[in-house]
Amino acid sequence: MPTGQINPAQIQIRLITPQDSIPAITRLLHRAYAKQVAMGLRPLAGRQDDAMTAQRAACSECILAVAPASEGAQILGVILFEEQEAASFPTFFLRPEVCHFAQFGVDPDAQGKGVGRMLLQAVEERAIARGATELACSMAEPDRDLYDFYIKRGYRHVEYWQWPYTNYRSCILSKTLPARQ
Ligand SMILES: CC(C)(COP(=O)(O)OP(=O)(O)OC[C@H]1O[C@@H](n2cnc3c(N)ncnc32)[C@H](O)[C@@H]1OP(=O)(O)O)[C@@H](O)C(=O)NCCC(=O)NCCS
Repeated sequence: MPTGQINPAQIQIRLITPQDSIPAITRLLHRAYAKQVAMGLRPLAGRQDDAMTAQRAACSECILAVAPASEGAQILGVILFEEQEAASFPTFFLRPEVCHFAQFGVDPDAQGKGVGRMLLQAVEERAIARGATELACSMAEPDRDLYDFYIKRGYRHVEYWQWPYTNYRSCILSKTLPARQ
């Protein structure tokens, strides 16, 4: 497991490769979302199996945060950019100027060290490169700490959405992006 010794400057942010362990990502997500599960919520990332983790990675640009080899090259975090799903999307996601991210999680042992910030920056850069002016996500409405996390990072609430596979209402949040240079 990651330790407190990890230097954020050495963390690699990169796309998933066939060599990366899908079970390691599933375990990370279950650990990261355990707080919401303990609240009685049923986020998909908190209970999905390896087949679902692999499917979601294949239907998106799956970006990983990986510790340096000297620290064991563990996967510390994951985020999906522009995941395509069978479920209907929130109306806001369908707007042409909007990109979105999902399944955002950092191993609890590595949280609070800026790994989440790096993953968010990676998806923001991808969205800007595509010419998007908004970057949106969906989050569990009852998780008010998480809501505050996003508001502090420049996101705002744009609408509510009910996904068919969760037992809570979601807040759709979005951040206005700087224009592409
Ligand atoms: C949200 C998450 C990805 C952030 O990752 P991280 O690596 O800890 O983020 P950073 O280190 O870049 O940022 C740490 C900051 O966020 C705050 N923070 C981290 N997780 C938080 C959470 N779940 N709720 C509220 N604040 C949180 C920290 O207090 C810290 O605040 P500060 O910058 O004001 O000091 C991580 O907490 C996580 O995996 N959460 C569980 C899964 C989840 O809810 N994902 C989002 C689904 S939409």
